[in-house]
Amino acid sequence: MRNPPKDGGLQAHGGPMFPRGTALLATPLLNKGTAFSETEREVLGLRGLLPPRVFSLQEQAKRVMGNFRRKSDPLEKYIFLSALQNRNETLFYKIVEEHIEETVPIIYTPTVGQACLEYGANFAQPRGLFISIRDRGHIAEVMSNWPHTDVRMIVVTDGERILGLGDLGALGMGIPVGKLSLYTACAGVHPYYCLPITLDVGTDNLSLHDDEFYIGLKQKRVRGAEYDDFIAEFVAAVKAHYPKALLQWEDFGNTNAFRLLGEYQDKLASFNDDIQGTAAVALAGVIASLRITGARLRDQKLLFLGAGEASTGIASLFVTAACAEGLSVAEARSRCWFVDSNGLLVRNRPGKLPHHKEPFAHDHPYLPTLSEALEAVRPTALIGASGVPRTFTREIIARMGELNERPVIFALSNPTSKAECTAEDAYTGTGGRAIFASGSPFPPVTLNGRTHVPGQGNNVYIFPGVGLGVLAAESRQVTDSMFLTAARTLASLVSAEDIAVGRLYPAFNKIRSVSLTIATAVAEEAYATGLAQRERPANVEADIAARMFVPHYRDLV
Ligand code: NAI
Repeated sequence: MRNPPKDGGLQAHGGPMFPRGTALLATPLLNKGTAFSETEREVLGLRGLLPPRVFSLQEQAKRVMGNFRRKSDPLEKYIFLSALQNRNETLFYKIVEEHIEETVPIIYTPTVGQACLEYGANFAQPRGLFISIRDRGHIAEVMSNWPHTDVRMIVVTDGERILGLGDLGALGMGIPVGKLSLYTACAGVHPYYCLPITLDVGTDNLSLHDDEFYIGLKQKRVRGAEYDDFIAEFVAAVKAHYPKALLQWEDFGNTNAFRLLGEYQDKLASFNDDIQGTAAVALAGVIASLRITGARLRDQKLLFLGAGEASTGIASLFVTAACAEGLSVAEARSRCWFVDSNGLLVRNRPGKLPHHKEPFAHDHPYLPTLSEALEAVRPTALIGASGVPRTFTREIIARMGELNERPVIFALSNPTSKAECTAEDAYTGTGGRAIFASGSPFPPVTLNGRTHVPGQGNNVYIFPGVGLGVLAAESRQVTDSMFLTAARTLASLVSAEDIAVGRLYPAFNKIRSVSLTIATAVAEEAYATGLAQRERPANVEADIAARMFVPHYRDLV
């Protein structure tokens, strides 16, 4: 990773010479709006195009934040921030970073879900690349239309499983755009390096076929060999155009997500955040919980509700972690149990099991319900990632409290309305003994004079740091072991004060330093394992910190 060119890369790709006048004002990576200095205005042909008074970035940020706060509707706030990002990226990141707890729920979950649903109706200005199945045979040409030559971070979706909202087709573009904004805001990856991509292979969401404002192809999804060939051409084009890019697979449907990860994990630096990022953030929560229970990781027994990308990803990483503590793979897997929509995951269950569930199908009599499974498994931790709300009933929570002095209960399903239980349910149902974390935020709960602060196990604690570390070392691959490293590092950053109130994750306003610490650990691993394509600097953390993007204006003349 090096600092991107001062001209935002415009000259590097043979584009117009350094932009001037209105072209400069229309280049969001360079535009400063009213903050262009007198000299810049003079030299760059801006005189008369801006009102005469020169403002500072700080003054602009104050004005913009005032306008932002005057809007009451989160979607209006999202549209306001998107427009700002498309106009002036420095100012956008300035306010996102300075008000990270206030702005991230707007540029990402939960608001981004609504923004995706209405992406067509609100469409104003494109951001990122849309590559459709009709571009087959020409994907490299499409990619060469992107104005930046040195892309290092790609987030790509085919829109089949957007958050908990299902198949949104091309409307899913809000997700790669949002995730890349978080890479910059939370880990300082330079926006110049970032490229959001949506692959449009159609949609099986028939309501979109009837939607007059739908922006994607109105056809059923292409599947099978045609889909695989399309993806293969896409990956080849990425490798040819952007050999140093890290490719993040995002919000693909279940069948493709596991397949694509398996197919490409060793072929280029790539990972799937829904599977591996979720795994790391949840495992970090489990590791942090051991500081409260005093138990060992290898002695944990996990019961999952749901056996999809999130749950099986968490279990797989748990197996890696438990094996590192001396268990065999079989022993570690025997500590992970699943109840999905068909009941307890066991070998003799009728019907063919999908590939990702097979390793966790145990030899055990079939049980249809969660409460029966709870009785049979007697887990130390109950982890919900089913997308089905209120499935951790009062009885289930109470029983967890009987089975464990400090029961670990994670309700990871998003958004809040989908959570398996609330923080209040978990604490009141166990007399305040539960160690609780959730996917969506819950307010603190005070019980018998004691305040419990639920941790939010959001992937944003993991992927920006992992990505930054991989970029910094120019690692050829993103390994499972790097996610284990990230999980352990994150858990180590939970303070004694956090633990004292039951919070399993660091405060979110520390996210940039959390990401830097994770990036350093991941980069060190890339250097140590020979995956790095860059020579190890003397001080890895200082090297990364020095190259993190900080939103300030640079003199252009
Ligand atoms: P998925 O679609 O891959 O898996 C869902 C699983 O739930 C499937 O195994 C399905 O059989 C099971 N299921 C459905 N209905 C059920 C029922 N009534 N009882 C038991 N199991 C049932 O989805 P994925 O990616 O695993 O996500 C699941 C949930 O986890 C979503 O709500 C998602 O928002 C959340 N999630 C949270 C994250 C976080 O907070 N860090 C990260 C990723 C996902």
